Amino acid sequence: MERTLIILKPDAVQRGLVGELIARFERRGLKISALKLLSVSPELARRHYAEHEGKPFFDGLIAYIISSPVVVMAADGPGAIGVVRNTVGSTRPAEATPGSIRADFGLMVGRNLVHASDSPESAARELALWFAAGDFAEYVRAIDTWILE
Ligand code: RTP
Ligand code: MG
Repeated sequence: MERTLIILKPDAVQRGLVGELIARFERRGLKISALKLLSVSPELARRHYAEHEGKPFFDGLIAYIISSPVVVMAADGPGAIGVVRNTVGSTRPAEATPGSIRADFGLMVGRNLVHASDSPESAARELALWFAAGDFAEYVRAIDTWILE
């Protein structure tokens, strides 16, 4: 079982899409193991996106992420990291596959609604950045036998 980090970015919160987007991950069968809404400090935003430091879009990206609260969640499931990336869709909404979140709700790369960890290494780093060990709930859902074979 994998665990991945999902952030519903400020545009998702401001557009009132939090419930609809979380529902997509739940409907897919993923299990929420941590969830919170918070205002992001510039320091946390820079650490989260450290791999992009120095790129032309970096300052704009940080300004976007701190512009309004975000919803951060951990999602668990078999192959969760890749499954969530596919559910979210390509970085540029105009190139995203219809049916993915970025295609169904977005138009521009700087307003692409959701972040998702892109590898097991990123997931481990990002989960530790946004959550403390005690924030994760370990529980069994009654429906799991109808989702997991
Ligand atoms: P994310 O990290 O947010 O899940 O997005 P991603 O993996 O699909 O894309 P990544 O390359 O990691 O880029 C991080 C975020 O930076 C913004 N961006 N802007 N203006 C640009 O050319 C540009 N490129 C990237 C996007 O908000 C992207 O999600
Ligand atoms: Mg990324």
